[in-house]
Amino acid sequence: MASTTAIIIFLILTIISTTTAEIRFTKIQSDPRPIIPFDEFGFTHTGILELNITNLQFSSPNPDLTKLGFFLCTRDSWLHVLQQIEDGEITCALQSNFITQVLNFNSINNKQQQQQPFSFNHFFPHSVSDQFTLVFANCIPQVKITMDVRSAMYNLDGRSKTRDYLSAGITVLPRVYFLFSIVYFGLIAVWVYMLYKKKLTVFGIHLFMLAVVVLKALNLLCEAEDKSYIKRTGSAHGWDVLFYIFSFLKGITLFTLIVLIGTGWSFLKPYLQDKEKKVLMIVIPLQVVANIAQVVIDESGPYGHDWVTWKQVFLLVDVICCCAILFPIVWSIKNLREAARTDGKAAVNLMKLTLFRQYYVVVICYIYFTRVVVYALETITSYKYLWTSVVAAELATLAFYVFTGYNFKPEAHNPYLAIDDDEEEAASEQLKLEDEFEL
Ligand SMILES: *[C@@H]1O[C@H](CO)[C@@H](O)[C@H](O)[C@H]1NC(C)=O
Repeated sequence: MASTTAIIIFLILTIISTTTAEIRFTKIQSDPRPIIPFDEFGFTHTGILELNITNLQFSSPNPDLTKLGFFLCTRDSWLHVLQQIEDGEITCALQSNFITQVLNFNSINNKQQQQQPFSFNHFFPHSVSDQFTLVFANCIPQVKITMDVRSAMYNLDGRSKTRDYLSAGITVLPRVYFLFSIVYFGLIAVWVYMLYKKKLTVFGIHLFMLAVVVLKALNLLCEAEDKSYIKRTGSAHGWDVLFYIFSFLKGITLFTLIVLIGTGWSFLKPYLQDKEKKVLMIVIPLQVVANIAQVVIDESGPYGHDWVTWKQVFLLVDVICCCAILFPIVWSIKNLREAARTDGKAAVNLMKLTLFRQYYVVVICYIYFTRVVVYALETITSYKYLWTSVVAAELATLAFYVFTGYNFKPEAHNPYLAIDDDEEEAASEQLKLEDEFEL
């Protein structure tokens, strides 16, 4: 289908990025790179940067220390710096007037320098509010740097000056996640009530849906706690493990649920066909890979080793999963059309057909919105409002859950009985019309 192809293309163009700033430990080993980016952070007017450098060594005995140092730079001003270097105005990024110098190694005490390796701490208040990247510049060719860097960036909040390790644009996220988790716990209550009331028409898939919502709610709760812990302390301290576990379970069950609903399992038939089982056998292992990739991406930060590779792995796997889950829905639509022609129950089949077509469109919209629109939002919004893209993604997800629950809820009345001859005739007319258009 043309729409599927369009989705694939858009997904390939998409890169989903998250910025969580934490205290980071980075090991640099005999690194000849002239520019080493560390981490990104959204500062407010009360930002602080702490650097603790240990085991600093150079590959040559007495390097020109003025050409080594840390600086902060926004993405826009980095382009100016590159332009200046290209124009020959400056030879080293540290000389540019577009950067904020944090620490020039020249300021390190001379005596210390004699005894390598050595260590030092640096405290740097930063009062310019914007999204900055911490960068190390090594403007001496052939000199390789070895050092362990602990970098911590935070803002001081309110009058009490408590540390806030979350970037300016995402500092409200703990509250956002918590609110959404409450909404999902509400949905769980509604769903349990519904299952209880319509006990006689509850299928296995309805209990599976309950499991999916429970996992989603727990996932959000852990994410709220994880983010709030990072906000307060700068490190995740175990909550991230719980969060990853629930993310993993939620990812697998959600994709499985979409496939199961798509195949019509328990609504249309009590078993799965071989090709439908194959889809599950592709999607579930791929979700495992996607979750591993997500953990590496989150833990290493955008400038970590292999970050780009894992990002690509994640995107590829995500695209394959998103496409794979559409096939069962397409197969079901096809089967329903054929059934409508042969078994003479046109009205019932048309109802189901409409439902599955709607579901197909909604799944595509959900995938498109959470992957492409959210990414676009993330790119165009200012660093201060990064949380809005998270809210948009969560709202879309919520809408998707509600739509799925509402349309595939346990039904008390049996649609096979409540249809009169007029409806039956109208339905077969419409199916005939559709067939003509198809040919
Ligand atoms: C790192 O440096 C900061 C600023 O100088 C200092 O306050 C802090 O105690 C240091 N931390 C460690 C672990 O050395």
